[in-house]
Amino acid sequence: MSASILIVGLPWSQDELALAVRAARALGGRPVVADTERALGAIRPPEGCTWLPVEELSVPAVVAACGDSRPDHVVSITELTTVLAAQVREALGLPGTPAETEAAVTDKFRTRSLLRAAGLTAVDCRETSLRDLPGVLASADLPVVVKPVAFTGSHGVRHIAAPSDLAALMDSYDPDAAAESGRDRLIVESVIPGDEISAEAVCVNGEVHLLGLTDKFNTGVPHYYEVGHVMPSRYTARWHDRVRAYLQDVVSVLKIRTSALHAELKLHDGRVELVELHTRFGGGSIVHLLAEAYGIRAYDVWFAALLRGEVPDVPRAAGTAGVAFFGGWAGAPFRWHSYDFPHAGAVMELTLDARARPKVRQHEGIRLGYWRTGRAVFHAAGADGYARVAENVAFVRDQFLSLDPAVRPHGSPTHHEGTHR
Ligand SMILES: Nc1ncnc2c1ncn2[C@@H]1O[C@H](COP(=O)(O)OP(=O)(O)OP(=O)(O)O)[C@@H](O)[C@H]1O
Ligand SMILES: [Mg+2]
Repeated sequence: MSASILIVGLPWSQDELALAVRAARALGGRPVVADTERALGAIRPPEGCTWLPVEELSVPAVVAACGDSRPDHVVSITELTTVLAAQVREALGLPGTPAETEAAVTDKFRTRSLLRAAGLTAVDCRETSLRDLPGVLASADLPVVVKPVAFTGSHGVRHIAAPSDLAALMDSYDPDAAAESGRDRLIVESVIPGDEISAEAVCVNGEVHLLGLTDKFNTGVPHYYEVGHVMPSRYTARWHDRVRAYLQDVVSVLKIRTSALHAELKLHDGRVELVELHTRFGGGSIVHLLAEAYGIRAYDVWFAALLRGEVPDVPRAAGTAGVAFFGGWAGAPFRWHSYDFPHAGAVMELTLDARARPKVRQHEGIRLGYWRTGRAVFHAAGADGYARVAENVAFVRDQFLSLDPAVRPHGSPTHHEGTHR
């Protein structure tokens, strides 16, 4: 009898769901997805996948919906439901990362506190609320980064260099709506120096196996909106072992078992420092880049670890892959100046809907500062492959930064300090 994998919670990206379902089936598993009838009804199940409608996304409802057919494995491929998936595992007596760990990973303050107690971070981090933020900032050593304890896409994140920046940060919240949904919990962190990368890995029974490092391109201070990535990172050869060793310490302290891992990290002065961690793969086409750069099917690797305890065999990268996102500041129509990439030969795929408009302007009280309407995927081999892909990504990033500053959200940046200038 083949093993069943219960995926709790639909991810935002249907592509990710299709990849996960395909991987489960390729390994002879039976993928089942649990979510509310309303959520499941909105999309068609991928081939070979069973929908399990639940009354609500809660432990009793998911366990009741399983009935007598207890799943062999329970996972979540989105951070919205990692805690719930772990609680379901615990209710069914299945092994895996504890719910307490998943709860700590989804809360940037708790992650930071646990790492600090273990000597794995030097970042100063205070927890506060939107209401108490002015008082906390008044006694803080500026600059700092203020961000929600849990959210994504760099929305609600801001570099605060001077007390006058507070007003701009407050503009990115609707305080009543944020308080109602618990999104008004914030952290105030010291600014981490260095260049930023992300690491994709799988953890197999508590042991970290790195799949790839990625260079991150963002809009820099003060918003840090992510505009593209390049894989493998130019730091791979020099930093691979240090990153692996650091992540191993992090995983051991947090007690993560068998899981996908996405860590955002800064490299500085020979040290690795954590920005944030997830027990799923990175969004923003990172899974696509693992396939383009390394030929790695990320979900196959994760589920082979889950179903068979297999550890991944990481091949050498076949060239450099990259992605960059078309988009704009929220509230402004899409206007793009040029598609004349510096290295047109490295452009593999363009997806763009110039007439699209953002679907939502805020989520649970956090106002979305920018939106994406398409992407460009790049690939180049040879000695200058990295440079060609990185220049294409920087070309998109620089156009993003030159979009009409009058409609830029929450005031103009004081200066620009991207990870790649
Ligand atoms: N303490 C810090 N020091 C320096 N930069 C930071 C700090 N915290 C966050 N950043 C920058 O802001 C970005 C967004 O922060 P973070 O990753 O915590 O939030 P996020 O909303 O999950 O972002 P995303 O979904 O884009 O990864 C980081 O990738 C990093 O560039
Ligand atoms: Mg992040």
